[in-house]
Amino acid sequence: MRRPNLDMKVFRDRRAALANMAQGAAIIIPSHPDYLRNNDVSHSYRQDTNFYYLTGFEESESVLVIRPGQTPETVLFVRPKDVVRETWDGFRYGPEGAEKEFGVDQAFLMSEFDQKIVELLKPVNKIYYRWNIDSEFDLKMLSFLERVRVAHGRGWNLLTVSDVNDLLGELRVIKSAHDVSIMRRACEISANAHVEAMKFVRPGVTERQVQGVLLGSFYMQGADREGYGSIVASGANATTLHYVFNDQVCQDGDLLLIDAGAEYQFYTGDITRTFPVNGKFTEPQRRVYDRVLELQKSLCQSVKPGMTIGEFQTRTIDELTQLMLDLKLLSGTHKQCVESAAYRRYYPHGVSHFLGMDVHDAGMYHDEDGQSRVLEPGIAFTIEPGLYIPADDQQAPEELRGIGIRIEDDVVVTASGCEVLTSGVPKDVSEMEEIIGRRN
Ligand code: GLY
Ligand code: MN
Ligand code: MN
Repeated sequence: MRRPNLDMKVFRDRRAALANMAQGAAIIIPSHPDYLRNNDVSHSYRQDTNFYYLTGFEESESVLVIRPGQTPETVLFVRPKDVVRETWDGFRYGPEGAEKEFGVDQAFLMSEFDQKIVELLKPVNKIYYRWNIDSEFDLKMLSFLERVRVAHGRGWNLLTVSDVNDLLGELRVIKSAHDVSIMRRACEISANAHVEAMKFVRPGVTERQVQGVLLGSFYMQGADREGYGSIVASGANATTLHYVFNDQVCQDGDLLLIDAGAEYQFYTGDITRTFPVNGKFTEPQRRVYDRVLELQKSLCQSVKPGMTIGEFQTRTIDELTQLMLDLKLLSGTHKQCVESAAYRRYYPHGVSHFLGMDVHDAGMYHDEDGQSRVLEPGIAFTIEPGLYIPADDQQAPEELRGIGIRIEDDVVVTASGCEVLTSGVPKDVSEMEEIIGRRN
């Protein structure tokens, strides 16, 4: 018997908090589907984030049902025990194991869902469902819902269905002390791996080899996987924001941008560093780097409750636009360049996103009136200004073409300011130059 190495109280508390928000409505969340890669081989499986957040259960073909105020309140539908399948694919909990180990009130076989759901939804007139995680199951849900409506009979309120994503987003956006302790470790692993990568890089290594160093370090430190596809972008590849190829040779004189984070117990780090392949910034590279760094540091220092993400973006646009004017990338007045969004040619993304179990994590950035969200303790997010000058940009001074720089750290808001979770990897020029290429 396998046992989950998890504190089930954490998951029970999350289910209770969600049930409280749902005010009597039932909540139904399917697991992530399994995808075939080829023949009988699947893509490596990762549970749906919301499903994991509420259960800690990592098996596919499962469904969670929560019925606030009813008995049983929490029900898990799971795959059967199966000696043959377990011989090939590994242990399954089955309904008995799921009920015992994951602290739900009852567990049933997935094959019973069809019949049990009509019973379970009898006292309910509203449902929160997570659409679009498993489109095959979505179709089945439509017919289950119809059967539940028929079973309710005429005269019963319509069984309305809303997406549970917004409720879960508002729960997940505020990290508990427990969540932060796991994020701290995910970020520490990520930072250590970046340091290893910096030590490894020198002219002639490939982007893929650098990715290998990152992954090796993640796994050696106990991470589960990459939190997202690692971006290892040398030279002008760094001007592609989410570069995916990682198949070039790192050249003498080029910069290398690494954007990578480890996933540890379902939480991810998200760090970017940019540094010279040969260990020494050229003068034009440094001219750009120092200014992006100055801005990034001052944004990190200014985080405190009461500020908004929108304020960070406005300040970033302001300062990067000034930098673009100083570098002669743009012409005209500062006001014109901001108002016409001319800066987007070299800085086309946001400076922050929420961070947690998903790299671009759940939660609303604006309220219903379109006002930027006010930061409060427990909100975790990234700070990642950047400047990207395409290699073929005829408008840019020649010595700046092909330079792509991003510097990214992860912070969590505290009562008086913030904790930077990723300070273990250097970003100052002298500190980085000290370790680049210094492997044994
Ligand atoms: N790693 C993706 C991002 O920084 O948004
Ligand atoms: Mn990011
Ligand atoms: Mn990133």
